[in-house]
Amino acid sequence: MQDQLNQLREEALSALIGVSSLELLDEVRRQYLGKKGALTALLRGMGQVPAEERPALGKLANETREAVEAALESRKDALSATAVAAGLAAEAIDVTMPGKAQLPGRGHPLVQTERRICEIFAGMGFEVVEGPEVETEWYNFVALNIPEAHPARDDHESFYVTDDVLLRTETSAVQIRTMEKREPPIRVIAPGRVYRRDAVDRTHSHTFHQVEGLLVDEGVRFGDLKGVLTIFAQRMFGDDVVSRFRPHYFPFTEPSAEVDIQCATCRGSGCAVCGQSGWLEVLGAGMVHPQVLANVGYDTSRFNGFAFGMGIERLAMLKYGIDDIRLFYENDMRFLDQF
Ligand code: PHE
Repeated sequence: MQDQLNQLREEALSALIGVSSLELLDEVRRQYLGKKGALTALLRGMGQVPAEERPALGKLANETREAVEAALESRKDALSATAVAAGLAAEAIDVTMPGKAQLPGRGHPLVQTERRICEIFAGMGFEVVEGPEVETEWYNFVALNIPEAHPARDDHESFYVTDDVLLRTETSAVQIRTMEKREPPIRVIAPGRVYRRDAVDRTHSHTFHQVEGLLVDEGVRFGDLKGVLTIFAQRMFGDDVVSRFRPHYFPFTEPSAEVDIQCATCRGSGCAVCGQSGWLEVLGAGMVHPQVLANVGYDTSRFNGFAFGMGIERLAMLKYGIDDIRLFYENDMRFLDQF
């Protein structure tokens, strides 16, 4: 029995050496010390042992149990330490590794320009509104006093969807939509995309962007329009910008004007940028034609107003000195990164 106890201890201790997980450790514990384990089985034979040998054997059995328990305990400690260490190693962060560069996002130059324009007019009390890109002839032409025979209504200038429906050729359509929905006083700007059947070159694109402006109230004067647009030009291009109003024609305004700014490259003396004229055209404007106000049912004896429209691409090109409109649509990072 003594030998069997010693052998059990040897076996248990050597079995523990190979144990590599806490689950296997439990298995070993059950196998040697459990209720149905080897030690219990041995002790059942105690009854056959002569009474005088029992105390010594009992003592040995206790020592054996304690020895195996101690070994189990220390193996358990070692295994959990290894598990913790492995966990830590797996989660370790190498703080010396180079970081991932965060590329800060920013708006496309056209988006930046549109935001700047809207911001300037918001500062003068204009509210931003929007209209659909697919329009009917009523909003795009008829209500704007553009007669049937006007060249802009020719198939070659517009993209028609059906006989009566087309991609809007100007944001002026939003003037009508706004006036139909609201009563004066009105003070809005309408940024958006427009489409024209133009061949693409350095200064033309079939798809481009405009910002429309409309103010309707009582007693509006041309001087109000001049003031608003002069302030706009100064905010956009700098306080020292020189601007001029030149008579022009639009069917939906009367009188109409185009606004030029003095060429920043030659300061007005004439160069390649301004085609030797010393001036660069930036927008179209005028007092809203009474027929347009009548078309939306306004009382023309009481209300009048002004409107203006500008190309966002054109303004961005002037502001940043860009000489080819196509650069805006190519998404070449070498171009975009400069803004
Ligand atoms: N709609 C005109 C254009 O596209 C611009 C404009 C708007 C002119 C409002 C006068 C008043 O050229």
